[in-house]
Amino acid sequence: MDIVEAINQRKSIRAFKSDHVPKEIMKEIMELALRAPSWGNTQPWEFAIVTGKELEEIRQAFVKKAAEGHNPDTDIPRPRGFPQPYDTRYRTLGRKVLELKGISREDKEKRGRWLLQGLRLFEAPCVIYIYIDRSFYQQGDGLNIWPVFDCGLVAENIMLLATRYGLGTIPQIQAVVYPDVLRKVLGIPDSKLIVLGISVGYPDWDDPVNQLRSEREPLDNVSTWYGFD
Ligand SMILES: Cc1cc2nc3c(=O)[nH]c(=O)nc-3n(C[C@H](O)[C@H](O)[C@H](O)COP(=O)(O)O)c2cc1C
Repeated sequence: MDIVEAINQRKSIRAFKSDHVPKEIMKEIMELALRAPSWGNTQPWEFAIVTGKELEEIRQAFVKKAAEGHNPDTDIPRPRGFPQPYDTRYRTLGRKVLELKGISREDKEKRGRWLLQGLRLFEAPCVIYIYIDRSFYQQGDGLNIWPVFDCGLVAENIMLLATRYGLGTIPQIQAVVYPDVLRKVLGIPDSKLIVLGISVGYPDWDDPVNQLRSEREPLDNVSTWYGFD
């Protein structure tokens, strides 16, 4: 598949079929994704690639945590707010997703159930958790954010490569909101910080939520050109 086609086709998938993703395919994706650039070739990323029993255990534990009222507690802090113009973009996305799911803003119960679907990783049969070493991120009183940036680069490689195999993906902060669960089930030590989960599987194209093609700000609004004619 051509790179332009892959970039155009990739989008976040929020409903998956239960079909198993073969390990050989995941290995091919992961091997090539490692060609991502990183600061000084430090390659700060590590991966837990999870399916089957362990993933079901994680799903159930996440739902239980939410039911018990535990607040999300990611290793990498989430935004405290969304100043403009980001708030509008964020809300537009949320509104469109709910519209496609046929959920009205007032329907608290259905919204709650949809949130749980996110915590259940939209039923994806496979998830890639990306983590980094704590000592590289927390340095003295400050933070070295570059390993997290590098994880973004490898994450995009993974998602584009998955497209080539007919797989859908979604980068999901919801996948890492209870890192204690992930540490316990996957044996990830405290010395590692879990950055992001990428849910992977074959898209359920019958679910209207997968029709969404999210908007982009026109290039002219976000770019200034210098030295061109
Ligand atoms: C770091 C990161 C975390 C995200 N977390 C979630 C999430 O928890 N739930 C979700 O539905 N989408 C999540 N997304 C997907 C974004 O909503 C999506 O990338 C954005 O709306 C653009 O749409 P597209 O991926 O379809 O192009 C996340 C994306 C990124 C990059």
